Amino acid sequence: MSDRHPDLPNRQTPFSEAFKAFIAEGWAPYPAEMPAALPASGPAKDRRAAVSRQFPGERVVVPAGGLVTRSNDTDYRFRPHSAFAHLTGLGTDCEPDAVLVLEPTDSGHDATLYIRPRAPRDSAEFYANPRYGEMWVGQRPSLEEMSALVDLICADVEGLADHLAKDADSTVLRLLAEADPALTAQVDRLREGLSAEDKAAATVRDAELTVALSELRLVKDAFELGEMREACAQTADAFAAVVADLPEAVRRGRGERWVEGVFGLHARHTGNAVGYDTIAASGDHACTLHWIRNDGELREGDLLLLDAGVELDTLYTADVTRTLPLTGTFTPDQRMVYEAVLEAQEAGIAAAQPGAEFLDVHRAAIAVIARHLQAWGLLPVGAEESLGEEGGQHRRWMVHGTSHHLGIDVHDCAQARVENYRQGTLAPGMVITVEPGIYFKSDDELVHAHLRGIGVRIEDDIVITETGNENLSAALPRTSTDVEAWMAGIWAGREDGAR
Ligand code: GLY
Ligand code: MN
Ligand code: MN
Repeated sequence: MSDRHPDLPNRQTPFSEAFKAFIAEGWAPYPAEMPAALPASGPAKDRRAAVSRQFPGERVVVPAGGLVTRSNDTDYRFRPHSAFAHLTGLGTDCEPDAVLVLEPTDSGHDATLYIRPRAPRDSAEFYANPRYGEMWVGQRPSLEEMSALVDLICADVEGLADHLAKDADSTVLRLLAEADPALTAQVDRLREGLSAEDKAAATVRDAELTVALSELRLVKDAFELGEMREACAQTADAFAAVVADLPEAVRRGRGERWVEGVFGLHARHTGNAVGYDTIAASGDHACTLHWIRNDGELREGDLLLLDAGVELDTLYTADVTRTLPLTGTFTPDQRMVYEAVLEAQEAGIAAAQPGAEFLDVHRAAIAVIARHLQAWGLLPVGAEESLGEEGGQHRRWMVHGTSHHLGIDVHDCAQARVENYRQGTLAPGMVITVEPGIYFKSDDELVHAHLRGIGVRIEDDIVITETGNENLSAALPRTSTDVEAWMAGIWAGREDGAR
């Protein structure tokens, strides 16, 4: 909430009075026309109504969060807390230090969005504040403009402290405490007078809000499903762009970095950014599950495991993995492993049905993986025993789960209660990944030598429907022969690959 960066005596020349007078003059008026409402503003209103129903009579406070220092006096690009984005419809880098307050009324809640409105051109902030100043980081909206964008009453964040302090003794306040440490400290000060018991109760209430806002995103509304579909479509195009540039990535060296860069270029161009750090993992690196160092070579004959997603301006992201042969053709060993992972994925997708348990997807996929590991003579026990509670030996080669919820966060709804997530039931509108893999590390002496260094994952984004499911990332080929034909088509200059 505060301007944490001190003045920069080494970097800023003092401003003369003449400059201060001159800088304030001669600017065109701000545009009179108000911006159109964000498409997400309507759905966001419905989501706020759901929060209001859940917490009647309570003051609910959902901060966007503040800028985070990357190093010294430079910040990361801002990303709003996902719950704030969900409840306001704001995406991209909007809006550091903003806070949504739902104030209880007799009939529900009144929502107010507190923001830092743009500072006037005769203010020191305009020219002298590298963190917030218009000349440094661009123009911010006025209260009226923001109000038009989000279809909410907006107020200056300067007034937030008074709002939170008003009737503090008689009003229950629930805070999304993880979003903005500075605001959480401010609320803690308001709670200083409470008894130890009441303080503990407030902490419990805050934690319940975190859970509730996470669970509110488990089932996506129609707007969200449209965004997920679009994120997957843009991701498919970005994967194709990577394939087109693979020969260049091999030729240049440091090819994993090149792959990351090409995907990032497309993500940044067609969306807001990548939804998570791209995993561009070639050869043995594919066996490191979250390989984001991406500093390796692409070597002819190796596989490239590319796990990447385009995040749209609304912050909804895809999360897709394809494992590609750099020559355009799988070797027999690579194909054998690939086909086993694909079979596991098919089983997982088939199990992703409305009414099924979330864990059924994993159970179906991992059973296939264990059976193949047994057939290849790798398991020290039978597949059944390995799949039992006392076993788990197969997990040496697929230590991760098969699915997670997907949405504004790549690992969406992570604070949901276990009975609604891991031990929950799949319902129409949920979007999950199905992403089995097999990873044979090059130093794994329990694996046949000719299979070492092969890592395969196939990951798609699946929406549960009333009658089954739909693969939102189906535009990207999955069978080994379809992958080969697609790559050959792209390299031959055919727009849609060879399919
Ligand atoms: N990209 C991270 C994951 O698949 O969960
Ligand atoms: Mn995933
Ligand atoms: Mn992934």
